[in-house]
Amino acid sequence: MKKLPMTDADTVRFTGIAGRIKFFSSMSMALLEKILAWVTLCEYGKGERIRTQGDPGDAFYAIDSGRVSVKAKRGLLPFPRKLADLGPGDFFGEMALLSRQPRNATVTCEEPTRVFVLLADHFEAAAKENPRFAGEIRKLAEERGSGPERK
Ligand code: CMP
Repeated sequence: MKKLPMTDADTVRFTGIAGRIKFFSSMSMALLEKILAWVTLCEYGKGERIRTQGDPGDAFYAIDSGRVSVKAKRGLLPFPRKLADLGPGDFFGEMALLSRQPRNATVTCEEPTRVFVLLADHFEAAAKENPRFAGEIRKLAEERGSGPERK
């Protein structure tokens, strides 16, 4: 993993992604500006794991470029099942932050991938300042958590 400096072009792309994500677009400009100051950009290589099932929830991720797979072991099954493929504009890592439980899946890069990272404290500050943000993201986490793949 390599931490990259946030350039003006990265900031513009993050704002674009944020605008397309329903819960970010519900934020005031003032809150979005605060978030921009908190966000960092990280680059991962193909095959690298961004997060592993069972890890503590320490950050939230929005994909800038690349592709990741989400896989998890459930119940007594001995091997992980693929739950989803995520790409630019998608996000992950919200479930452990909302539930305060360990990561429920492993996220692996299927190609070189860049992610915008928001640390847990900042994610919580954003959710506290904007209840609609908290509501939207909770709704999506619930949909992911109760999808057919989970059973
Ligand atoms: P978290 O549990 O923090 O870390 C693993 C992440 O994988 C999880 O948050 C979600 O963001 C993501 N995830 C888990 N299950 C699914 C799913 N069914 N579809 C898409 N993403 C998922």
